[in-house]
Amino acid sequence: MSLEIIEKLNEALNNVEVSLQNVSNAQDIEDARIASIGRKGAITLLSREMKSVPAENKREVGMAFNAAKNKIEDLLKVAQEKLEDAQSDSEAAGVDLTLPGRKWHAGTKHPVTRVMDECVAIFRRMGFIVADGPEIETVYNNFDALNSPKDHPARDPRDTFYFDDGRLLRTQTSPIQIRVMEKQDPPVRIVAPGRTFRRDTPDATHSMNFHQIEGLYINKDVSLADLKSILLAFAHDMFGDTIGIRLRPHFFPFTEPSVEVDFSCIMCEGKGCRICKNSGWIEIAGAGMVDPNVLESVGYNPEEVSGFAFGFGIERIAMLKYRIGDIRYLYENDKRFLTQF
Ligand code: PHE
Repeated sequence: MSLEIIEKLNEALNNVEVSLQNVSNAQDIEDARIASIGRKGAITLLSREMKSVPAENKREVGMAFNAAKNKIEDLLKVAQEKLEDAQSDSEAAGVDLTLPGRKWHAGTKHPVTRVMDECVAIFRRMGFIVADGPEIETVYNNFDALNSPKDHPARDPRDTFYFDDGRLLRTQTSPIQIRVMEKQDPPVRIVAPGRTFRRDTPDATHSMNFHQIEGLYINKDVSLADLKSILLAFAHDMFGDTIGIRLRPHFFPFTEPSVEVDFSCIMCEGKGCRICKNSGWIEIAGAGMVDPNVLESVGYNPEEVSGFAFGFGIERIAMLKYRIGDIRYLYENDKRFLTQF
């Protein structure tokens, strides 16, 4: 009998120990106290069975009960101290564990960045390597080396931002062509995405600050047909296989012949709509065969190598891809607009 009661006592002690292991507040500790040494607690109830313990065992069992009660009181004290420590730690750290959590809004990529990344990915798959250049350029790289005549209207300070030291904010990514060719011998196969600046009055299709992606391929026997196939492959990759392209004769100082590149309107699939001004086509890039004068300005021999260059307007592509009617939405940082991407 005496053995049985001690076994029960040990079991009850064990239960208190377990329940005190994971207390998170004062009520948990109080509950453990009530369940063990409270008026109707397991140990209190058990101690009533003392009467049936034979006289010769009473002393031994009584001592076991006293030891158990002391042990439980110690355990309750330790649990209480641990709880107070944890509370003062979080208070010291300025953390109120009872506050509801805060919701964090993960950002998304800006549509211009998305399109830029996608353009780069497409050209990289075709074997182009990414090149870079500074936004503050020399007049030489932005105009002279690109065969722009001294009286070219784009050089006018009313169209281009100049610094006092004579440098300028690049008006196009084309100066990166010069930087790359000055540094390396042919073959060259690069794309160069970047920010460009022009002194335009902002409206639905113009911004003083926009983005281009430049492409340049120089090798032996490069032809206009090569240019066209690369442009078509890009169009299909970006907008799907139903897109058509069209090259129209144009003029750029640094390419000869030069073309403007139109994509068939993705809004109306070429039928004619407001966006394409009923023509069924949208101008999306400038391109052409690199002018021999440019090749000479970087020390290449135009008798040995030829090449093509192109420059896409990133915003143009973004506006088509996401059906954005006004370029200014891209720069107003209106969350209602930006959270749609
Ligand atoms: N740099 C030209 C522009 O900004 C585009 C272009 C790039 C044209 C490369 C031909 C070749 O309009």
